[in-house]
Amino acid sequence: MTLQISNLEEYKEAYRKSVENPDMFWSEQAETFSWRKKWDKVLEWDFKEPKVEWFKGAQLNITENCLDRHLKTKGDQTAILWEPNDPNAEVTKLSFRQLHAEVCKFSNVLKANGIGKGDRVCFYMPMVPELAIGVLACARIGAIHSVVFAGFSATALADRIKDASCKMVICSDYNHRGKKNIPVKQVVDEAINQGCESIETVIVHKNTGGDIQWNENLDKWWHLEMIGKDPVCEPEVMDAEDMLFILYTSGSTGKPKGVVHTCAGYMVYTCYSFRNIFQYKDGDIYWCTADIGWITGHSYIIYGPLLAGATTIMFEGVPTYPDASRFWEICQKHKVNQFYTAPTAIRALMAHGDEHIDKYDLNDLKVIGSVGEPINDEAWQWYNDKVGRGRAPIVDTWWQTETGGIMISPLPNITDTKPCYASYPLPGIQPVLLDSDGNELRGNDVEGLLCIKYPWPSMIRTTYGDHNRCKQVYFSAFDNMYFTGDGCRRDEEGRIRIIGRVDDVINVSGHRMGTAEVENAINEHEAVIESAVVGYPHDIKGQGIFGYIIVQDQEEISDDFAKEINAIVTKVIGPIAKPDKILIVPGLPKTRSGKIMRRILRKIASGDASNLGDISTLLNPEVVDKIKKLAGLI
Ligand code: PRX
Repeated sequence: MTLQISNLEEYKEAYRKSVENPDMFWSEQAETFSWRKKWDKVLEWDFKEPKVEWFKGAQLNITENCLDRHLKTKGDQTAILWEPNDPNAEVTKLSFRQLHAEVCKFSNVLKANGIGKGDRVCFYMPMVPELAIGVLACARIGAIHSVVFAGFSATALADRIKDASCKMVICSDYNHRGKKNIPVKQVVDEAINQGCESIETVIVHKNTGGDIQWNENLDKWWHLEMIGKDPVCEPEVMDAEDMLFILYTSGSTGKPKGVVHTCAGYMVYTCYSFRNIFQYKDGDIYWCTADIGWITGHSYIIYGPLLAGATTIMFEGVPTYPDASRFWEICQKHKVNQFYTAPTAIRALMAHGDEHIDKYDLNDLKVIGSVGEPINDEAWQWYNDKVGRGRAPIVDTWWQTETGGIMISPLPNITDTKPCYASYPLPGIQPVLLDSDGNELRGNDVEGLLCIKYPWPSMIRTTYGDHNRCKQVYFSAFDNMYFTGDGCRRDEEGRIRIIGRVDDVINVSGHRMGTAEVENAINEHEAVIESAVVGYPHDIKGQGIFGYIIVQDQEEISDDFAKEINAIVTKVIGPIAKPDKILIVPGLPKTRSGKIMRRILRKIASGDASNLGDISTLLNPEVVDKIKKLAGLI
């Protein structure tokens, strides 16, 4: 089993070893997995290209490590515990043995439908066990999964299907979300109609049994396909650096990019980080509330926990259905030991009042985690007092889609915790703070740009179909560094606090969005000439979206303009990208080279226009006062 740190001395020792001799450190970790063939070389790298190869020469299948290797000792232990949306509906428990059989059967379904090694398969599904089964089945036969969060629009789904030329989509008929049933298959049909010519098959999981349109040429039912399939499927033997999955994420420019993760390094690091950060012990019940449409769900609902032989809960519903005590009711019901959620959920539940939590028995909780966005002091304190009850430490985990696994986090009961601080790097992770000229800020009590100067096993390998983009976005800002896009502070004792993005990415309820993406959507409205979108502080969402819009003729704008903008953004991206506020403006502050001065727009959006700095060098300084006036700030 993966080596687990159990005290501060061991953490310090592991960290020292991981920096002094990374090859030895990671080969010791890797030894704990089952391999078809061991590696010839632990690491080969060059951030200039970038090229990063871990465990080169090794052969493996990640599902053998997630499933087969647990069968002897944990075959009857629950691997996936599924809690449905309806609190009165039956819980599903799949043991490692059952999960193994289901994954093998579905692997055979994939094969029977012409899917093989290297083919891309898109998932657009709710949080049901079939999603995990499907993802693992892809990994078993060497197909590359691309899970798309089921809140994205048909257009966004079509873009992602086309970018990866997926051969198959796997979806449900409808999603249960609280009181609502969301039509999922219909969105897939719309996406396919937008020119997804690579799609040969759509597999539909019957979730609600609601009416759907059926396309005889493409559609097949999951349950009918599974009939008579062999519950045995030999895993495809994969090379260490073969692609495992693609996951799309937003950046400051252009369309979302497909972040590529590969088999061996991702396996070693997700398991290692899972065991250490959650201090998982055999028999514990672990619950991460994320959606599998995001990296947190990939690494810490499916792969990390299953690799570690853990019982992982999958929850279909939402935190506020049937009421705001649902999370705590589930923690009590399943005696959850490790709980992992996002600050936005914590803030939303905090706002509903303590009566929703105080009556629940949360004594089994040993560790509570936070991920996805900075956690503010008030939310941290509430989480600590009300959920952790001052007993279960908070692990504020900083990482990204691109990092594959948690990079900076306290280790519970091993390193200390400090409100709002992600604290210390995991062994193997070498963060550095740079000033904007690229000089390293070595001491403590400094603030700068967060970069990582040495490879770690689960790091991004490329952006699908466009390696140059990967190089430009992450490896070109500073020599020989992976640039995270985040700013951070290091306190007097060396703990790291993430301040937030320093690029044009906004984080709304933990969902990452590029301002350019939202602007492009807004600009599709026929009356819009130009727009600029910025984030502003929002009590529940962390950041809200503020859109400044220039229109052709203000007289012509209908009373429903804001609704029309929301409808377009919902159609192009999804409801998560709808602006919270829009302001029609006569112009946007620009530099002489034509660049929008977002700094000024961010200040105004935050309701504070007191200190905008020097605006005299702007191309159009007069517009600033006009915008301030329209925003009600003067
Ligand atoms: O800005 C950081 C923020 O989320 C970004 C990564 O988003 P995504 O790729 O969607 O992955 C989210 C889940 C891993 C980061 O660049 N972020 C993530 N975790 C934290 C955070 N900001 C502050 N504190 C965190 N713990």
